[in-house]
Amino acid sequence: MKNIDRSRIKELMVREERQFVKEHPKSKALFKRAKACLLAGVPMNWMVRWAGPYPIFAKEGQGTFITDVDGNRYLDLCLGDTGSMFGHSPKAVVDAVKKQITKGITMMLPSEESIWVGEELGRRFGLPYWQIAMTATDANRFSIRLAREVTRRRKILVVSGCYHGTVDESLIALENGRVVPRSGNIGPPVDPEVTTKAVEFNDLPALEKALAPGDVACVLAEPAMTNRGIILPDPGYHDALRALTRRYGSLLIIDETHTICCGIGGYTREYGLKPDIITMGKPLASGVPVAAYGISQYVSDRVMARILDEGTDESGLGGTLTGNALAVAAMRATLEKVITQKAFDKMMPLAERFEKGVDDIIRAYQVPWNVTRLGVRIEYHFMPRPPRNGAEADAAKDSELEKLMHLMALNRGILLTPFHNMALISPFTTRADVDRHTEVFEESVMRLVK
Ligand SMILES: Cc1ncc(COP(=O)(O)O)c(C=O)c1O
Repeated sequence: MKNIDRSRIKELMVREERQFVKEHPKSKALFKRAKACLLAGVPMNWMVRWAGPYPIFAKEGQGTFITDVDGNRYLDLCLGDTGSMFGHSPKAVVDAVKKQITKGITMMLPSEESIWVGEELGRRFGLPYWQIAMTATDANRFSIRLAREVTRRRKILVVSGCYHGTVDESLIALENGRVVPRSGNIGPPVDPEVTTKAVEFNDLPALEKALAPGDVACVLAEPAMTNRGIILPDPGYHDALRALTRRYGSLLIIDETHTICCGIGGYTREYGLKPDIITMGKPLASGVPVAAYGISQYVSDRVMARILDEGTDESGLGGTLTGNALAVAAMRATLEKVITQKAFDKMMPLAERFEKGVDDIIRAYQVPWNVTRLGVRIEYHFMPRPPRNGAEADAAKDSELEKLMHLMALNRGILLTPFHNMALISPFTTRADVDRHTEVFEESVMRLVK
């Protein structure tokens, strides 16, 4: 195994930042102006987390490319961190939105299309009843409420290193066996030990120990972790997770927001999972804010009376704009014409090609890294073997190296997801795009090895 030359990282960073500044004068000017009116100079705080001394300002996204205000064109492998994973502004969705927007945006009435959406989600994911939400965060929050209502228990259980959106209960870290607020968690409402139990992913004995007292309303989990890089479940993990949640009377909520990358019915359909509740959001309407959660007959039977109650407008579920006609129309068009089997048939071989390209470079240059793929999502980790849980992934995190690799990619026309080394293949991605990434990846590795 070869080592990365740490002194080269700093040297290259200076050179790459200089190039970035030279090529992004308009973004620089806009950022200066934005800092006077937007907190941190961006409409949403994560947008400052891209590689480079300041964010690039987008002008346009089409298919799998983004153009910035300086006229630079990027192959987008981040794809809105899954929000636009099936491509920017797909025509079918643009057409559906244009049509609906002239016929009422939000009317607080169901539209017929919502039935099509509910039926289709049921066919794909196997749960009978669906509700619309605005974001995946909301879908998770509402599902946790349902689980608490059904079980009359207060606590939830998540895996350490998970991300389920800005759900208070899940913004936790596991430190020496204690649940504490995650370092970035701003203004946690209560000590998270009051609301949350946490275990490492793939740790079944710890899971059983946490569920055994019978005080956990639900386990909220991604079927494979995607927010600490990709972390796959051990063989048999899901059978055991389902058996243990049943044994101790906790509901199982599977968050498919990112794992929709496995196929049209997510990981659940690919691997035959049987959760009580499924949540998802992000790409469901190609980036138009909409999300969904599906529930089993068992859950439905136990919450229906409360859903029909007089006070349901103050139930804590949904919001005024939730399920609006525009969002539902965009979702129907996305499910019908964009997130299709045909699209996956095209994307999957390209994802395999991407994985192989990266793997070949890792082997050729003997760097102690690995690459993992989950459907059409690919991730490289700076460690020799794939991590088994969040703690292992965190231990291998190398922010300095990651930032440089991202900046080198950006300066060569490729956008990778901030926070980790994740790439998504969209139906618009081509072989040439995949090979361009492999080329850029090779150039970065070649410059970094001792
Ligand atoms: C697995 C998972 N669930 C839920 C969410 C929350 O999505 P949103 O921020 O759109 O609410 C995220 C966001 O990254 C996620 O990764």
